[in-house]
Amino acid sequence: MKVTGVILAAGKGTRMKSDLPKVLHSVLGQPMINYGQSAIRHLNHKYVVVGHKSELVINQLQAGFKSVLQKEQLGTGHAVATLLNSEEFIEDDADYIVIIPGDVPLLIKKNIDRLIELSFKKNAALGIITAEVSNPAGYGRIIRKGDTITKIVEEADSSEAEKQIKEVNSGMYCFNKKFLSQNIEKLDDNNEQNEIYLTDLIEIAFLNKLDTVIVKVSEDTIKGVNSMSQLNDVEKALREKLISSHMENGVYFQDASTTYIDESVLIKAGTRIMANTHLTGTTEIHENCTVGPNTMINDSSIGSNSNIILSVLDGVTVKGTATIGPYAHLRKGSVLELDVKIGAFAETKNSNIGKGSKIPHLAYVGDADLEENVNFSAGSITVNYDGKNKHRTDIKKDAFIGSDVMLVAPVTIGEGAMIGAGSVITKDVPSKALGIERNQQKNIEGYMDRKKPRDEN
Ligand code: UD1
Ligand code: CA
Repeated sequence: MKVTGVILAAGKGTRMKSDLPKVLHSVLGQPMINYGQSAIRHLNHKYVVVGHKSELVINQLQAGFKSVLQKEQLGTGHAVATLLNSEEFIEDDADYIVIIPGDVPLLIKKNIDRLIELSFKKNAALGIITAEVSNPAGYGRIIRKGDTITKIVEEADSSEAEKQIKEVNSGMYCFNKKFLSQNIEKLDDNNEQNEIYLTDLIEIAFLNKLDTVIVKVSEDTIKGVNSMSQLNDVEKALREKLISSHMENGVYFQDASTTYIDESVLIKAGTRIMANTHLTGTTEIHENCTVGPNTMINDSSIGSNSNIILSVLDGVTVKGTATIGPYAHLRKGSVLELDVKIGAFAETKNSNIGKGSKIPHLAYVGDADLEENVNFSAGSITVNYDGKNKHRTDIKKDAFIGSDVMLVAPVTIGEGAMIGAGSVITKDVPSKALGIERNQQKNIEGYMDRKKPRDEN
């Protein structure tokens, strides 16, 4: 038996009131359509029907997914007819065709596989996934006669009595290919929305006394996204599921309701995620770290036993056991070796910070290479930009940078050197030297006694 999978993704998503095609809205950091692609990736052939802003949707297709263009979006039935008539589809050799909507990110592969299995077993004309939902508004209602499904009535065409029905259509089907191609052209748009409904095929199967299989699943796996409010519902449900699975793996969450984690993020056991923490992109947090509260980490790798509080990290590699924050901002290309401390109001960018080095407060380190055990004191910065170009600062091991120092790059501070507070360093400082650039201090004796009081001026 060969099975082809199809995602319907041509619609504009009018009810989203957004320029972005609906299936590209992000759910836990992934465009919605990725969830559909994951659920049918294992099938023999895969197609995606695209239409509205098709180039953007095509950009998101994974290997093995072919696109078919539905120029005008005349309804789900029209979308499938367009596919069946397309050049891309002509050579398709499937026995069954699984169709899913692009706007149901909670769907699970297990349900699709069960649908396929039962449709095969019964040699059915079609199989359909349904669910009892608490609020059926917006979904097609399942009309039954005993165990048999006789038709689907869309919300817009439903009577008051039909509106009360809580069993709804998930939009996920497994069609016998012969049945589908023999009947798809029979669909019309004689309905309230003047759309060609794929769902009318269910009545055709019933009237022809053909077998239909129903797989009833739980409400939480079929929720569709038609509006921003439904997007929020679905994202919340997926987030809860994702955080539960992290908990099962031994990750502690202080307050899951204020924690935002992308699907793609890895967290190792023993790590504690404190309230209001956002972990996104390709972020990996290793064992026994404490992250947060109030921390955002994107596309970064955090080595085990690190502590990060009230900080923002983006594109950072922390090799391990670092102490970061409160109020640190570590930007792209910051690489921290073991036992580094970055403290309050310190910013780093495109810099290597050697083992045991400390930048404990009020500092900017950009385009710099710090070797081991460098101390970078309060108020000091690398002056990396001359208005045209960026230059690097080299600080060798055990160097001590005093407070309020400007290191004007390109410049090298030698091993074990010390820089006096308040210096503007424009020339290299040799190893073990004291680099100091400062006027002599003058004390003017008795000055305050001779100065006229303010109000006499
Ligand atoms: C559809 C079903 C409804 C079901 C619900 C489940 C029909 C007529 N109705 O309604 O019974 O309860 O899904 O979520 O099928 N699309 C196209 N081309 C088109 C129209 C739509 O590709 O011409 C795509 C959309 O991009 C979307 C999917 O098909 O991904 C479903 O379309 P949508 O308009 O959201 O259908 P619903 O009104 O939700
Ligand atoms: Ca929908």
